[in-house]
Amino acid sequence: MKIGIDKMGFATSQYVLEMADLALARHVDPAKFSKGLLLDSLSITPISEDIVTLAASAANDILTQADKQAIDMVIVATESGIDQSKAAAVYVHQLLGIQPFARAIEMKEACYSATAALDYAKLHVEKHPQAKVLVIASDIAKYGIGTAGESTQGAGSIAMLISADPAILVLNDQRLAQTRDIMDFWRPNYSLVPYVNGLFSTKQYLDMLQTTWTEYQKRYDTSLADYAAFCFHIPFPKLALKGFHKISDKTLSSAHSQRLKENFEHSIAYSQKIGNCYSGSLYLGLLSLLENSQQLKAGDAIAFFSYGSGAVAEIFTGYLVDGFQKQLKPQQRMTELAQRKRLSVAEYETLFFEEAQLDAKGNANFKEYQTGPFAFTAIEQHQRIYKKRTN
Ligand code: HMG
Repeated sequence: MKIGIDKMGFATSQYVLEMADLALARHVDPAKFSKGLLLDSLSITPISEDIVTLAASAANDILTQADKQAIDMVIVATESGIDQSKAAAVYVHQLLGIQPFARAIEMKEACYSATAALDYAKLHVEKHPQAKVLVIASDIAKYGIGTAGESTQGAGSIAMLISADPAILVLNDQRLAQTRDIMDFWRPNYSLVPYVNGLFSTKQYLDMLQTTWTEYQKRYDTSLADYAAFCFHIPFPKLALKGFHKISDKTLSSAHSQRLKENFEHSIAYSQKIGNCYSGSLYLGLLSLLENSQQLKAGDAIAFFSYGSGAVAEIFTGYLVDGFQKQLKPQQRMTELAQRKRLSVAEYETLFFEEAQLDAKGNANFKEYQTGPFAFTAIEQHQRIYKKRTN
């Protein structure tokens, strides 16, 4: 049975911070961000846009009423959880109006967990071929003002509908994961921002890529020659580029090498404008590739490198389905990104780091900000209140 990604939706914030503005404010050469990290801008969320609203918006973009009846599992992969107990997927299930007899859970392992969620979804559909599973990777990457990681923040959510006979990409069975207990990036429960060993994390990313890819090729008797594109987890595009160079294969024809290079550039286009969206960034790379490359065709195989700090990495592959282009919205995406409201650095510092001020009864109200179709509007007696916008 062919199982894979049937639809893909995306949501990000309505606000943007230009890297050139950040460079000026932090007295850094703008080329460090534009060339050293390959970043143009970062999506910035206000308090009323969280991983739940982003996740619901990303899925709302793609689901029909029939999908909502067929979905029997909703998985939100995130490392920016809003509750230690209740899964973000439960809120999302309600906001989207998905039929009640569905399972809703949250999964975590830094930026990696959406990859495990996809595999779980695939196994579920194998057992229940009529079922559809909604997998959403939703995160807000926040490191703090003036930190080394500040230039690699961002926010976004990718929704993927997993079904039999998918319309975009069939997922192959051959997968290979690797786990290493390392402290490259972590966020203890008492901290709003992560602790990061930046340089160490980049080295681990690249080493996990190389060692997993070497073993993957051995186990499954495959090589780069079999793939039209390679998508990477993109904490910032320059690291993905280093990853791309790491796996390069000198035995490939120059035409194939050129094709891989062009497809790589298409895969980082959205991340260059959005920044890191943690669990979703690999899949944002896939969406960016599919929506911007003119040369991909049905049957083309794509390899994926998923990486989550801590660390778990995985390589898996899939191939494109006839007519996959019909499921995509390249024009809409670029227009939406261009419409984000540009923030000054001072506005970004206030807006991105605003925290709810609870009164003695556990209530908090927020100023109204621009959000997508859903908004986190208040806290009432410690309960988060979400609303669908009517306009
Ligand atoms: P930094 O100290 O800001 O920057 O840290 P740097 O000094 O390393 O410079 C960055 C690049 O800019 C270098 O390029 C410089 O040479 C270059 P490279 O040598 O690496 O090719 N540069 C310039 N280029 C042109 N003109 C100039 C100039 N100046 C410098 N004038 C760092 C950067 C990424 C470490 C930091 O931003 C950070 O800590 N970020 C967060 C951690 C991170 O993103 N790690 C990635 C791997 S871990 C991961 O992927 C998991 C993650 O997504 C989380 C999860 O799994 O949950 C993060």
